[in-house]
Amino acid sequence: MAVCSAPGKIILFGEHAVVFGKPALALAIDLRVRASVSVSDQFAVNGHPMRPKHHSYISAALDEAWNGPPVRISTKSSIPSGSGLGSSAAVTVSSVGAMLAEKGTFDLATLAKKSFEVEFKVQKGASPTDTSTSVHGHGVLVSPEQGDGFLWRISKGERVWNMHHCEIPDMTFVVGYTGVRAATGPLVDGVRILLDTNKDRRRDVDRIGDIVLEGVDAVRRADKPTLGRLMLENHGLLNDLGVGHPALDKLVDACEESAYGAKLTGAGGGGSMIALTDHPEKTSGAISRAGGEPIVVSVGCAGVRVES
Ligand code: PMV
Repeated sequence: MAVCSAPGKIILFGEHAVVFGKPALALAIDLRVRASVSVSDQFAVNGHPMRPKHHSYISAALDEAWNGPPVRISTKSSIPSGSGLGSSAAVTVSSVGAMLAEKGTFDLATLAKKSFEVEFKVQKGASPTDTSTSVHGHGVLVSPEQGDGFLWRISKGERVWNMHHCEIPDMTFVVGYTGVRAATGPLVDGVRILLDTNKDRRRDVDRIGDIVLEGVDAVRRADKPTLGRLMLENHGLLNDLGVGHPALDKLVDACEESAYGAKLTGAGGGGSMIALTDHPEKTSGAISRAGGEPIVVSVGCAGVRVES
């Protein structure tokens, strides 16, 4: 039997713009998924016979990383699903990781590539940001060019993503889940249509690319006031790109007094926002009062681990 665990993530800067060739910065969080894989007499997931439609990530993971006898797979998650915290990526990375460990072929770059293929197959067009962050942990800068701290490169068709290590200082974020579910695909398509027809919005995407690079510098200096300012600016630009939601604005505004800054994280259209704060209790209270569900997270945590 092999056991692997892998963390969730938040996107600090660059969501959506990363789809159009700009950089993005994602941070691993201290919520994890644990997966075990052991050879058995039939394919089973969490004690039930595997059904590919129902267990889409695990079933795609088996296609991608396992060509052996039937296995029993169990997963245990502390990441709320559908909240934009990368739970599907962490399920994928921990399961594929456990399969590779069970076969004796575990290695990080292979795991990152295979996990991306699994998410791509199930979500039909994801970027490798979530899966690579879950594999590497810490912070991951996704960039079209290769630079310092290079980890691995992932490509799909003509698209290329270079993954880089980014050291993350101690920081606390409060995630605020709006309770509004929104699918990533249509939001990405909406941005694509807007960019095809509107030059101002293309300038917004360019500015988000610059914010990511300024943000990486501010992270390195642990300069929280600058990070807060950049988060608010990034949030406004994402609103201009049409991926905001009134519930997100309400939560972002509610954090004004107790946090350095706040923004939506991930695909938007609902989902979650994040606030950078030294006062997590105050910020959590403000998010609750504004109708959100707060979750306090630490960032820069370890990536995938083979536990046994
Ligand atoms: O839904 P999430 O949290 O994985 O974020 C999606 C981020 C996008 O940039 C909108 C899409 C992507 O695949 O990068």
